[in-house]
Amino acid sequence: MLKHTVLQRSFIHISVASLKKGPLNLKGKSPADKRWLVRQLSDPFVKAAHTQNYRCRSAFKLLEIDDKFNILRPGHSVIDCGAAPGAWSQVAVQRVNSTGEHMENPRGTVVGIDLLRITPLDGAHFLSNQDITDPATEAQLLSLLPDARADVILSDMAPNASGLRELDHERLINLCLSVVGLAEKVLRPGGSLLCKYWDGALAHKLQTNLSQLFQDVRTIKPKASRKESAELFYLARTFRKR
Ligand SMILES: C[S@@+](CC[C@H](N)C(=O)[O-])C[C@H]1O[C@@H](n2cnc3c(N)ncnc32)[C@H](O)[C@@H]1O
Repeated sequence: MLKHTVLQRSFIHISVASLKKGPLNLKGKSPADKRWLVRQLSDPFVKAAHTQNYRCRSAFKLLEIDDKFNILRPGHSVIDCGAAPGAWSQVAVQRVNSTGEHMENPRGTVVGIDLLRITPLDGAHFLSNQDITDPATEAQLLSLLPDARADVILSDMAPNASGLRELDHERLINLCLSVVGLAEKVLRPGGSLLCKYWDGALAHKLQTNLSQLFQDVRTIKPKASRKESAELFYLARTFRKR
């Protein structure tokens, strides 16, 4: 587990623990960076992530969704796409018992992938510095999954924001569509897929693809997802192969 939750925004890296020691030196920071820091520091999910040892606040989005829909179960194999810094993987490790801590329950598997380096986590296999859309990544992924199959695919991926809303939306939808392609290859019948997207004109295309493959597809906006963000999630359950 991480000792400190880290506030990250481009070049700002400040541990929450260090902020307790004294006033924050904002000298040299741009107004946008200052606004971002102030928002982070007053965010209850950032504080909760620190006290509960999650790597970032996004853990609470997955916790809320899983508390409601129970998609992560002991013994499950999970692929976490866009896993860095690793908060969703932390949740998945706990819920599927991939450390084997609860000996009365079956032991699951968690495999996380990211373009960035992911700090190691007990109970998870990480493919750092790997692109989910690269066929070479897929081959490695399959070798880490029992029977080369997954019960759940998670994607909290986000492309580097260009600032152009439509372009960023399209890029993220394309990433989601690659995740749907991955699901067709590795997901077990009955499996689930949870993916983040930014709302926009192409969302219906993603929804249509998901609806052809899953019995139940719904849109979710968890409480931990900031209201001002265009971020939404599709939860697709009960996979049925075409
Ligand atoms: C919002 S963060 C994920 C946070 C993570 N769910 C957590 O709880 O720690 C989005 C991540 O998606 C990753 N990403 C974007 N495009 C990717 C790709 N093509 N392949 C793998 N990871 C990607 C980014 O590097 C970034 O780390």
